[in-house]
Amino acid sequence: MAHFGVDYYPEHWPQSRWPIDARMMREAGIGLVRMGEFSWAKMEPAEGKFDFAWLDEAIAVVAKEEIQVVLGTPTATPPAWIIERNPEILPVDHTGMVRGFGGRHHDCQSNEAYRAHIRRFVRAMARHFRGHPHVIGWQTDNELGNSHRTLCFCDSCKQAFRAWLKRRYGSIEAVNEAWGTVFWSQTYSSFAQIPVPLPTPNSHNPSLLLDWKRFCSDLIVDFQKLQIDILRAECPGQFITHNYMGFFEKTNYFHLARDLDFICHNQYPLHFRKDRDPVAPPERLAAILDLMRGIKRKPFWIMEEQAGPTGWETVSSTPRPGQLRLWTYQAVAHGSDAVVYFRWRTCLFGTEQFWHGILPHSGQPGRRYAEVKQTIGELTPLMPRLGDGGQGAEVAMLFSYDQEWAFQVQPHHFDFDYITHLMTYYTALHKAHVPVDLVSDAEDFSAYKVVIAPLMFLMTPDLEAKLRQYVAGGGHLVLTMRTGVKDWTNQVVPHVLPGPLADVVGLTVDEYDCLWGVSQAVRWQAGERAADPEPCAKWCDIVTPAGARPLAVYTMDYYQGTPAITANAYERGVAYYAGTELPPRTMRAFMAHVLATAGVEPLIAPAPEGVEATRRRGKDGDYIFLLNHARTAAELALPASWKPLIGREFVREHVLQLAPYGVALCISA
Ligand code: GAL
Ligand code: ZN
Repeated sequence: MAHFGVDYYPEHWPQSRWPIDARMMREAGIGLVRMGEFSWAKMEPAEGKFDFAWLDEAIAVVAKEEIQVVLGTPTATPPAWIIERNPEILPVDHTGMVRGFGGRHHDCQSNEAYRAHIRRFVRAMARHFRGHPHVIGWQTDNELGNSHRTLCFCDSCKQAFRAWLKRRYGSIEAVNEAWGTVFWSQTYSSFAQIPVPLPTPNSHNPSLLLDWKRFCSDLIVDFQKLQIDILRAECPGQFITHNYMGFFEKTNYFHLARDLDFICHNQYPLHFRKDRDPVAPPERLAAILDLMRGIKRKPFWIMEEQAGPTGWETVSSTPRPGQLRLWTYQAVAHGSDAVVYFRWRTCLFGTEQFWHGILPHSGQPGRRYAEVKQTIGELTPLMPRLGDGGQGAEVAMLFSYDQEWAFQVQPHHFDFDYITHLMTYYTALHKAHVPVDLVSDAEDFSAYKVVIAPLMFLMTPDLEAKLRQYVAGGGHLVLTMRTGVKDWTNQVVPHVLPGPLADVVGLTVDEYDCLWGVSQAVRWQAGERAADPEPCAKWCDIVTPAGARPLAVYTMDYYQGTPAITANAYERGVAYYAGTELPPRTMRAFMAHVLATAGVEPLIAPAPEGVEATRRRGKDGDYIFLLNHARTAAELALPASWKPLIGREFVREHVLQLAPYGVALCISA
């Protein structure tokens, strides 16, 4: 199998250019292209009139250069003639406004007319390309859920929501019970009265909102299933995948993956809008990749890797020399088996005129082409050796869409955010060079030495039992603020917090304090001498220990001196509790303590800021990726047993020099 590819849009270029493109791709070591995912109008210019000849030709051209093809089903872009025939396909946004044709994803995913168009089209496309010797697989749609973030509230979706509730709860009485509709006279006497959450004079019922998010996620899974069923039946032998968007949360990615052979992710480290980081921090990129590996607990692909400045109306900075190579190595380091760059050549028209490809508008290969070619040349011989043994992580973090959604409904503090909170833990582990798996709470996590279970706001008795058992069996568990507050319907449980796990963590939470207009700080005191206080923010649980030992305390106000972080020995393990969103210095001390107690070793000793170390368990040894995300050079002492395969710039014995954005790859057999 080829391991490097590009996203290619032959329909944007004259046919005479195709062979030139294909030859330049092969010369760069590219062995894969993804095509077709937005070209419905060209493949079916009028209902039932299919034209796949141009795509046959494009495949033939790249096949001549030994390049394999992944085809995308173009269902993210229903053509104008479909919307003209069935305008009811257009989605309705959260204000009740119908969104118009243009852009993409101008569709309602529950709409039957739309689904009928998809069935007809996908079946024809699948039948045409089944068994094609150069088509190795399919991508369904494109970034499902993207553009649908505030969609769709149409009548069809309303009916689908009601049907979903009926399947979930059985009767309207059960819905009333689960949502607590006796509050504010919201009791429903039939499913026909249940609304979709359009704006009301004030807030909706939190249980309704959480179920609405679950419904929207299930709808997307079902929408994808429609085409997967067709592709599976028509195209045995070709894989089916989908391109994910990292921490995107409209869809439960664990559920979306069930019907896929493997998943793909789109990685764009540079951003071009004011509300996002201009460059995503390396630990965030790493966490996203670890989640992508955790979705199916196996290697994945990057289906779109940044290849140049990104941009629509505004434009990001340009990737610095070395960054495209660095991000490619990072993706592979965290478990990507193939990297496909978005896009081959920068387009001359359309919304993405300034979303740059490997080639600039002119089509002349330049700096980016040379860097991608070098990267592919270095990594291609190594890819088959990397295996699927994961990172050998001894630490897991639990990831849950239900918890994230529940906090979106009620963030408690204006600035509170599920991912940001998880990242406080992940960042400390990442900077300590400790591999982490991000896994679903439905997984068996019993083999990990440490499990971080942040924000287990919604609880089930099963989950509680599983966490208890993990600690009893010798695990080191970190629980946090807001554990055990609610049940799965988003109703508060009438127990003393954190509920049944109180004896495991050895404390009760008697009060809490939202840090809005008040200040608080924590002092780590489990070391040889107590640290200076460090301000904390957003939230504090005020706890009473019942056996637990304080590792850090609050330093201000009426609960000064009470524990902010605790440890409790329970049967053969240890359960920790963190009552606030920990600031970085305290978090580093806390994680160092947890790791040392659990016997988890870092991959490398402290390294200069910005250097990432990641391990991939290969077929013939451990592959250690050393990645310098900083714009300055870094020196790094290597253990004697590591043999550098790529990046051998030694300044002294065992001391390696990493250039700005430089990488090294070592094997430790
Ligand atoms: C991705 C998408 C691509 C392209 C790219 C640049 O999110 O999958 O089709 O739009 O962004 O905007
Ligand atoms: Zn709809």
